[in-house]
Amino acid sequence: MKTVIVTGATSGIGFAVCEALLGAGCRVIGIGRTGERAAEALEKLRRSFPAADCTFYHGDLMLTSDVRRLAAELRRDLDERCGGRLDALVLNAGCVRSWYMTTPEGFEQQFALNHLSGFLLTSELLPHLTAGRGMVLITSSQSHKMMKVNWDDIFFQKRYRPLMAYKQSKLCNMLFARALNDRYADKGIRAYGIDPGLVHTEIGCKNTGGIVNFVWERRKKHGVDPSVPAQIYAGLITRETRPYGLYFGIRGEAPCSRQVTQENADRLFQLSEKLLNIEFGVQKEADTACLS
Ligand SMILES: NC(=O)c1ccc[n+]([C@@H]2O[C@H](COP(=O)([O-])OP(=O)(O)OC[C@H]3O[C@@H](n4cnc5c(N)ncnc54)[C@H](OP(=O)(O)O)[C@@H]3O)[C@@H](O)[C@H]2O)c1
Repeated sequence: MKTVIVTGATSGIGFAVCEALLGAGCRVIGIGRTGERAAEALEKLRRSFPAADCTFYHGDLMLTSDVRRLAAELRRDLDERCGGRLDALVLNAGCVRSWYMTTPEGFEQQFALNHLSGFLLTSELLPHLTAGRGMVLITSSQSHKMMKVNWDDIFFQKRYRPLMAYKQSKLCNMLFARALNDRYADKGIRAYGIDPGLVHTEIGCKNTGGIVNFVWERRKKHGVDPSVPAQIYAGLITRETRPYGLYFGIRGEAPCSRQVTQENADRLFQLSEKLLNIEFGVQKEADTACLS
């Protein structure tokens, strides 16, 4: 039985991915932002899949202390129940913001959640991914194509443009997927960026306001049901052989932005290590204050 961890599993695309994976016979470990959201999602999934192997954990992935605490709990679970192996990690949690907002550690929130949290969680779970010759699937977006990384002002502090910050975070997803393949493909790890298309979810209406909220309220109605892109993830995770491509959508492999170069991927990888003060794959002690 394949073990898959899914972040952002309480709604939208992530919840539908959990449904698709449970339907395909996988063991699913979902991650929610809060204990309440995680409990609600678990209850709904258990109603549809009473015999399936599904558990939930929670953590505010914008906080590195929470990511580390969560990762310690996940490692313990993977060791106890799954032979220390992780078959797939779906990095899907994401947000949209209307204004410049930072985490308590000073990171712009879209960059922090959409890119840095997944970078840190993958680093923390690297031994288990290596043991499972695991896949990392990162929810990117078509919007990554219309963007370059704003290296001189990665948080858009000088002039905050919410959509540009979002697009940049989705380009970072592709660069991280590329960097993982460049570094760990020979250890059996394979990473993909996923384009879910336009999907009818509430992402643009959570903690947003002004024009972002206004636009998303209208735009989401043209989106497909989350069960449609969920098939991309379930298809990649359950297929016998793993494809070599980097970017997949509902019609299969697709070309990604020309910005997804080894040079840019290396630069982002190094910047992310520096911002988080980590050496990728080397686990630091979890913040024991959060373990209680
Ligand atoms: N919808 C689209 O058209 C579209 C298109 C391209 C890419 N995407 C990407 O798809 C991914 C999923 O988005 P979605 O559209 O399915 O929207 P969504 O339903 O809002 O899903 C986002 C998920 O992330 C979780 N989350 C938010 N903040 C968090 C935090 N601080 N810590 C932990 N988890 C947190 C949310 O939890 P709650 O349930 O508690 O809010 C939710 O489970 C995102 O990465 C987004 O960028 C979406």
